[in-house]
Amino acid sequence: MRTTIGIGLLGAGTVGGTLLRRLVGDHEAILAKTGLDLQVRRVAVRDPAKARSFELPAELLTTDPRAVVEDPGVDLVVEVMGGREPAGELVAAALAAGKPVVTANKELIADRGAELIELAAERGVPLLFEAAVGGGIPIIRPLSETLAGEQIRRVAGIVNGTTNFVLTRMTEEGAELSEALAEAQRLGYAEADPTADVDGHDAAAKAAILASLAFGVWVPGDRVDREGIGDLDRIDVVYAAKLGYVVKLLAIAERVGEVVSARVHPAMVPVDHPLASIRGATNAIFIEGPSIDELLFAGPGAGGEPTASAVLGDVIDAARETLAGAQVAPRIRFGEGSLVDPGSVETKWYVRLDVEDRPGVLAQVAGAFGDADVSIEAVWQEGTGEDAVLLIVTHRAPERAQRAAVAALEALEVVRRVGATIRVQSDGP
Ligand SMILES: NC(=O)c1ccc[n+]([C@@H]2O[C@H](COP(=O)([O-])OP(=O)(O)OC[C@H]3O[C@@H](n4cnc5c(N)ncnc54)[C@H](OP(=O)(O)O)[C@@H]3O)[C@@H](O)[C@H]2O)c1
Repeated sequence: MRTTIGIGLLGAGTVGGTLLRRLVGDHEAILAKTGLDLQVRRVAVRDPAKARSFELPAELLTTDPRAVVEDPGVDLVVEVMGGREPAGELVAAALAAGKPVVTANKELIADRGAELIELAAERGVPLLFEAAVGGGIPIIRPLSETLAGEQIRRVAGIVNGTTNFVLTRMTEEGAELSEALAEAQRLGYAEADPTADVDGHDAAAKAAILASLAFGVWVPGDRVDREGIGDLDRIDVVYAAKLGYVVKLLAIAERVGEVVSARVHPAMVPVDHPLASIRGATNAIFIEGPSIDELLFAGPGAGGEPTASAVLGDVIDAARETLAGAQVAPRIRFGEGSLVDPGSVETKWYVRLDVEDRPGVLAQVAGAFGDADVSIEAVWQEGTGEDAVLLIVTHRAPERAQRAAVAALEALEVVRRVGATIRVQSDGP
């Protein structure tokens, strides 16, 4: 029986380089455990002269990624080059040629996942992307296979290690956002250009993938309601701690009645909630459903080793299916469905106001909330004299009402400034 699978790699950087080392270094162990003889046949990089952490016969390296996809010795393509294009074209070409594809590319899957999954289904080959969300944490397979029969209510958690590292430093060391970000860059947790992390694009792509798999309704990455941590002020992290919360960047996918909500935003999480204790670059994701109640997946959400481990698992899975020779049924089919109107999503809000410190201010502030149909759960006053600060936590209300209340507050003469608004997580993770 044939046991050899030729593997082509598109990219050999942080993830691809580690994967290569594992495929070569652990070849015998993988063969012994799985019966699979995984042979690296071609590797595409941009700069062949670059120093690498792996050794490879020079003839296997190419700067032409098409050559990898089209190589007749390549049975399975691993895309770890990142970005939308040319990765998208190459993945589509591999699938169209009937070659299984494994990718770690959340950006590509969030953008073109529905089309690529359909193409894979048409050709009867696997398209696997375990590493696209949660790095080394198994989350895609549990969602799309193990829990395929569960009526999932919600998937929520911390899916971006860079911002969690930054928020942890702000919480524990009192660091400013810019200082914590610079430290994350120094330690290699953040890119030179951290926009994708800080502005929540990376988390939004992951939220889109989680929502799509959880609810069987395709949610494109650009339809995720997104707010990053760029505007977060250190002082609100300090106030959050005083009020019994920790600020986290959450990705949330939930069913709201008949529709789906997919969103990313900073949120104050109660200090005794399991997500509050997820520190540094760790990721943690809850899945909730009627039969499973709550499942928590946590671990290293990025990094060469953990991510390559998830990619390698997919490679082994796809290689098994390829050798079995059968047409592979898609792991998920997407049906009709619509996305929630973000204005109708209900949460509690924390609002920080700089106000004049004189009689009647509180009544006017309460009136602005009341007129917008938002009721107040608690109010604290910080400081007296010229510059009083009011910290308000509201009860749950639709986002539209919360925004109307904030607009009314901004129009009040006694309110000098609405300093911050942050959602407060009150119902589950
Ligand atoms: N790093 C992580 O912790 C992590 C975690 C989860 C998911 N991912 C995903 O994994 C993927 C790879 O990430 P990474 O961190 O390994 O990226 P990386 O270190 O930048 O590596 C990218 C690799 O692709 C090659 N490449 C890029 N464009 C190319 C082109 N047009 N032609 C040929 N080769 C090209 C690069 O060549 P050179 O080496 O010559 O520059 C490099 O080897 C991304 O989709 C990322 O989102 C990464």
